[in-house]
Amino acid sequence: MSVNLKLVEIKKSYLNVKALNSISLELQGGKIIVLLGVNGAGKTTLMRIMAGLENADCGQLLFNNQHVDCKAIRQLSTLVFQKSVMFSTNVYSNLSYGLRIRKVPKDEIKKKVAEALQIVRLSGFEKRRAKKTSGGEQQRIALARAFLLEPHVLLLDEPTANLDPNSATIIEKAIVNKKSVDRIIVMATHNLTQARRIADEIVHINNGVIVEAAKTEDFFENPKSEVSRKFVNGELEF
Ligand SMILES: Nc1ncnc2c1ncn2[C@@H]1O[C@H](COP(=O)(O)OP(=O)(O)OP(=O)(O)O)[C@@H](O)[C@H]1O
Ligand SMILES: [Mg+2]
Repeated sequence: MSVNLKLVEIKKSYLNVKALNSISLELQGGKIIVLLGVNGAGKTTLMRIMAGLENADCGQLLFNNQHVDCKAIRQLSTLVFQKSVMFSTNVYSNLSYGLRIRKVPKDEIKKKVAEALQIVRLSGFEKRRAKKTSGGEQQRIALARAFLLEPHVLLLDEPTANLDPNSATIIEKAIVNKKSVDRIIVMATHNLTQARRIADEIVHINNGVIVEAAKTEDFFENPKSEVSRKFVNGELEF
């Protein structure tokens, strides 16, 4: 049985901005769900709520049909931010932090860190100061940090936006390799060809509402809503 996460009528406003307006969605493990939408559509806000970093104004989250509050969902989810945040320590400490607080034995941590760095092609970076590494390297360190935590809900906010094409391809493959029935992968991207390549399902958000949620092929070949059709064709006006 695969895990599942249900969002029920999630709403979130910031002062006079309705960032999310009644989002309902059901996500299954074993799939990559890509969030598409123009700047300010609500993708990051939705992922922050799924990560338990932000409380929705109203609505519910259910994991495997059990209601989960912010604290509970934080235990299940890991979000890789649009702009990665590094601690002022070396790369090893940055990567091992989550495992250390879970009291994973030292030897195991060392092995997992090395594996994760290998996946993002940064082997040997353990002793480097994380904050001094390049933007793209920091993005890959943040991804490695999320990968080794093996979360049930892996949330990736534009994970390849800062990467060179070769690194982007490597990371794309690593994300696909993380697919598992006990993991839901949600990713925001502005790269439509990337979305087409790796998404199982597309959720198109516009002005804080879901305008279309469909299998990837159906979304790109035959978008049902006018907004999605325009978005796919690059004709969406503001
Ligand atoms: N903390 C905040 N305070 C005020 N407004 C916010 C805050 N966070 C988000 N917003 C607003 O909510 C809306 C949705 O923002 P969000 O970051 O979710 O968009 P996005 O789809 O991730 O966009 P992008 O593609 O640019 O990353 C925007 O209008 C944004 O300005
Ligand atoms: Mg965003």
